[in-house]
Amino acid sequence: MAKIAAVLALIALLGCTARTCQAGYGYPTPVPSTPSTPSPPPPYTPSTPSPPPPTPATPSPPPPYTPSTPSPPPPTPATPTEGLAVGYYKKSCPRAEDIVREVVRDANAGIMAGLIRLFFHDCFVRGCDASVLLDQVDPNSPTEKFGIPNLSLRGFEVIDAAKARIEKECGSDVVSCADVVAFAGRDATYFLSNKKVYFDMPAGRYDGLVSFINETLPNLPPPFATVDQLKANFASKGLTADEMVTLSGAHTIGISHCSSFTSSFSDRLNPSTSDMDPTLMSSLREQCKSDTGTDNTVVQDIKTPNKVDNKYYKNVLSHEVLFSSDAALMMADDTSAAVRANAKDNGVWEE
Ligand code: HEM
Repeated sequence: MAKIAAVLALIALLGCTARTCQAGYGYPTPVPSTPSTPSPPPPYTPSTPSPPPPTPATPSPPPPYTPSTPSPPPPTPATPTEGLAVGYYKKSCPRAEDIVREVVRDANAGIMAGLIRLFFHDCFVRGCDASVLLDQVDPNSPTEKFGIPNLSLRGFEVIDAAKARIEKECGSDVVSCADVVAFAGRDATYFLSNKKVYFDMPAGRYDGLVSFINETLPNLPPPFATVDQLKANFASKGLTADEMVTLSGAHTIGISHCSSFTSSFSDRLNPSTSDMDPTLMSSLREQCKSDTGTDNTVVQDIKTPNKVDNKYYKNVLSHEVLFSSDAALMMADDTSAAVRANAKDNGVWEE
C-alpha cells in the first residue's frame, strides 16, 4: 500500500469511538453548556461574538495566525479506539460509500483538496468525530469551525450533499457524519491521485456532540511551526516523525491565502529571513499584491497543483514551498531523510 494511503488510514482511526452511529449535525443535542473536559483559555478573542460561518466554495481570508501558540496538552486521544470495521454499512446502508464517492467525484479539484484538509482538521481535534462540522448554538461558546486554522476550510457543502442523499436512502440515524467526512477525504485523495491512492476506510465512528473554538490552535499546527513543534504535535496524536512527513505531502494540492505565509512573525517573502527560491518568491509577491487589501490565494504546488503526487517533496528540496513549517522538514535529520526518500520516483509515497 502507498505510504500516504497507509498513514491517512491511520489518522482516520484517531480517537474514534465505534458504536451505533447517531448522525445529525448542526445542532448538537443536548446543547452543551460547559465543556466536558476542562479547556485551556482561548488563545485569541474573536472580533465579533457570532462570526459568520465560513463560505465553503470561496474561503474567506483567514486572520493571521498568532505567533505565540500556547501548548496545553491536546485533548485528542492518542490511541485509536478499536471496533471500527471496513464495510460497516454493508447491511444498514449498502450504498453509503458509493454515494459519498459519487458526490465527491462531481466536486472540483479545489473542493477535493478542501475535503482532505477538512478530514485532517476533524481528526486532530477530539478525534475523527465530525466536531469540525458543528455550528455555534451557544452565543458564548463558538465551535471549532470558528478557530483560526478552520476559517479557510472548504468542502462543507459536499458533506451536506452526501449526507442528505444518504439520509434519503437509509434514514437519518444510520450513517454518522464523522464517517461521511472520512469517506470524503479518502475519495478526494483517490480522484486527485488519478485513482492511484485508494484504501479501505474502516467506519462506525460516533459523532461528537461538543466542539470548542479554543481546542483548535493547540491541536492544529501553525504554518510557522518549527520541526520540533511539528514532531511534538503529531506525536501527541500517536504519529511518528516519518508519518508526519508522509501526511505533509498533502500540500501537493490545494491553495493557501497569502496571509498564511506573510505574517510579520514569519514572512516567507522576505529574503533576509526566508530560504524560498527567489523566482518563486518574486512570483508570489506579484500574486499576493492587492490594491484593495484582498487576501489573495496561490497554489501550493506550482508544478502539479491539482494532483496528489510526490512533487511536494521535490518542492521542499528545491525551496519551492510556501510555509516555514514545510521548509522546517529539512531542519532535522530524520525528517529530511524522509523528505528525500519520498521525493524519489519509486512510487513508494503514492502508488
Ligand atoms: C504539518 C503541519 C501542517 C500545517 C502547518 C498546515 C498548514 C496549512 C495552511 C496554513 C494551509 C493554507 C490555509 C489557507 O491559507 O487557506 C494549508 C492548506 C492545506 N493543507 Fe495543511 N498543514 C499541515 C498539515 C496538513 C496535513 C497533515 C494535511 C492532510 C493530510 C494537510 C492538507 C492541506 C490541504 C489539502 C490544503 C489545501 C486546502 C485547500 O485548498 O482548501 N495539511 N495547510
